[in-house]
Amino acid sequence: MAKQKPFTYLQKYVAALATALLALTPHAMAAETAPDPMADARIVGEQRCVECHDTEKSLFGHTQHARVFRENPRNETEKAVCEACHGPGSLHVADTHDKSKIIGFDKDWETPIERQNAQCLNCHKGGQRLHWPGSIHATNKLACSDCHNPMARFSANGLMKKAGITETCQSCHQQQRAEFKKKSHMPVPEGKMTCVDCHNPHGTSSKKLLKADSVNDLCYSCHTEKRGPFIWEHAPVRENCMNCHSPHGSNQDKLLVQARPMLCQQCHSGQGGMGHQMFGGNTLPGAMTGLNTPTTNLTAGSRRTISRSCQNCHTQIHGSNSTSGARFQR
Ligand code: HEC
Ligand code: HEC
Ligand code: HEC
Ligand code: HEC
Ligand code: HEC
Ligand code: HEC
Ligand code: HEC
Ligand code: HEC
Ligand code: HEC
Ligand code: HEC
Repeated sequence: MAKQKPFTYLQKYVAALATALLALTPHAMAAETAPDPMADARIVGEQRCVECHDTEKSLFGHTQHARVFRENPRNETEKAVCEACHGPGSLHVADTHDKSKIIGFDKDWETPIERQNAQCLNCHKGGQRLHWPGSIHATNKLACSDCHNPMARFSANGLMKKAGITETCQSCHQQQRAEFKKKSHMPVPEGKMTCVDCHNPHGTSSKKLLKADSVNDLCYSCHTEKRGPFIWEHAPVRENCMNCHSPHGSNQDKLLVQARPMLCQQCHSGQGGMGHQMFGGNTLPGAMTGLNTPTTNLTAGSRRTISRSCQNCHTQIHGSNSTSGARFQR
């Protein structure tokens, strides 16, 4: 058993002092004692708001919120229209320059992001947002309004900030924008698919905001024929499609992470037992590609490996259902 250190009075005293000091930090004090600056505010109603904010009135009129809140309010909050999101406005109307008197969703208005998001989550908790708390976007302090602009209809649906979902995502994710411009890519730029076919930006229980438990489950959801089961499984396919494919785009054919035959040779070197040792001491992959120059000319073997290379013979690379398909040749 480990020997316990004696807990001296001095240590106890220091610990108590530290706790007391921590409790006195401005942060803790603010959290406990700061009064809500809008606590006494009352709802004044949309008519009053649009006396000063008339452009907002007309643009907002095209949104789904306007339709529901104005025509079919289900409760008092929705009936308040503007104030359903911005909070009760009587104090703001009295002093329009005090930023603490109305909830603003623009960066320079300085309303804390947690407070902004709480307004939206009042009505939109759960559902797709079940995993919002603790999600990577939430912990990176994104606001709902970084992706949504409910004040006008910029997108066909979803009240996005830009004309579409993909544009909205790519305004921050420049690297992914570049990936989708590569030679082979998922048909996102063509508009056949958007980022949310694979990701839930509001959070998921899996990593990388994927809409499935694993990368493979995600891929199988559209490429069902790759799910198998196969009599002969190719181990790296079952492990992770990303052993060979990049999910967004690649400068190789078919979203491959490497050109062939190098793709296969990463794992099948021909030397360590996995490869073509039956062809004598020469490592076949080298001989086939003509890469082990200067001694190798373009042999018959090398011609067989052009283009689809190894797959000229090993055609069923994702798995085979032929009883004699152990080497994925049929
Ligand atoms: C008397 C005119 C007036 C009325 C009435 C009024 N506002 Fe304002 N509001 C202003 C002015 C002026 C500003 C800008 C202050 C500034 O920029 O310093 C402002 C700012 C705002 C902002 C912050 C804008 C930003 O940059 O993020 C919001 C949100 C807002 N008002 C909502 C409302 C709502 C909701 C109502 C109804 C409850 C309302 N206002 C009623 C004059 C008014
Ligand atoms: C569904 C929630 C919601 C409702 C309802 C709503 N707003 Fe907003 N409002 C927002 C968000 C979010 C923004 C920030 C938009 C952005 O990203 O620029 C905003 C921005 C504003 C601004 C800042 C200037 C601007 O247009 O970006 C004003 C002023 C404003 N709203 C007034 C109003 C008024 C007046 C109404 C009622 C006619 C209203 N809002 C209804 C959420 C709402
Ligand atoms: C008072 C309740 C309430 C608040 C607050 C609220 N919403 Fe909504 N929102 C609704 C309702 C109701 C709908 C209509 C869709 C429906 O029937 O569920 C809706 C629809 C939406 C849609 C879907 C629009 C579409 O075209 O499909 C988005 C996106 C959205 N809200 C975002 C927000 C954001 C962002 C905020 C905060 C700035 C917010 N909402 C605040 C009640 C609310
Ligand atoms: C990183 C970008 C992003 C952020 C941040 C974000 N959303 Fe969304 N949201 C989207 C996209 C994209 C869609 C469209 C999804 C679709 O059409 O399937 C969407 C759809 C919605 C919808 C309509 C579909 C539904 O689930 O009912 C609501 C409501 C909504 N978001 C609310 C919110 C709220 C509330 C927040 C903040 C807590 C938020 N969103 C934050 C990107 C975002
Ligand atoms: C306002 C900027 C912004 C917007 C808009 C935005 N994101 Fe993000 N996103 C971030 C930040 C910040 C991170 C965390 C840091 C990083 O990985 O870059 C992140 C991370 C991610 C991740 C990585 C998750 C992880 O676990 O590593 C994915 C996937 C993602 N975002 C998808 C999307 C999608 C899809 C959209 C559009 C619906 C979107 N983002 C819109 C800022 C944004
Ligand atoms: C066909 C499905 C699919 C589509 C469409 C898709 N992604 Fe991804 N995305 C993935 C997969 C799979 C990963 C990798 C997950 C992993 O590393 O485990 C990923 C990873 C990411 C990451 C994290 C990158 C990193 O290195 O950590 C970001 C950010 C991201 N995607 C953003 C986007 C954006 C933005 C869009 C739309 C422009 C988009 N994705 C469209 C499947 C997709
Ligand atoms: C939402 C459906 C969907 C998901 C999820 C999906 N794909 Fe795709 N995939 C497609 C579509 C659509 C195409 C384009 C088919 C076409 O153009 O004929 C495609 C094409 C491909 C291609 C061929 C590209 C080319 O250049 O011909 C590969 C490889 C591929 N996907 C692999 C994957 C992998 C790996 C995953 C998982 C990370 C995945 N897909 C997830 C829908 C999906
Ligand atoms: C060992 C490497 C490897 C792995 C792992 C792998 N693939 Fe492939 N995949 C390839 C190669 C090589 C091609 C090109 C085939 C061709 O040119 O005929 C391809 C082509 C594709 C294609 C387009 C042509 C077709 O057959 O439909 C899709 C879709 C695809 N793979 C999906 C997947 C999915 C889904 C996974 C995960 C379950 C996966 N791949 C795992 C090597 C791999
Ligand atoms: C990420 C590593 C990896 C990649 C990339 C890879 N493989 Fe494999 N491959 C394996 C593993 C692991 C096995 C299983 C070996 C075993 O069971 O002894 C295997 C098995 C095989 C087999 C059957 C061998 C046997 O002894 O049953 C063939 C044939 C094969 N791979 C061909 C290819 C081809 C062709 C490519 C390129 C399109 C490729 N592999 C890419 C890892 C990989
Ligand atoms: C000309 C046709 C052909 C080409 C091209 C070819 N292979 Fe083979 N491969 C075979 C044959 C035949 C076998 C032996 C099959 C058997 O014993 O059942 C084999 C066996 C294998 C095995 C099983 C291990 C072993 O030694 O038995 C692996 C792994 C393999 N090949 C990988 C590759 C890779 C990687 C490439 C590309 C660099 C490739 N093959 C190109 C025909 C070919």
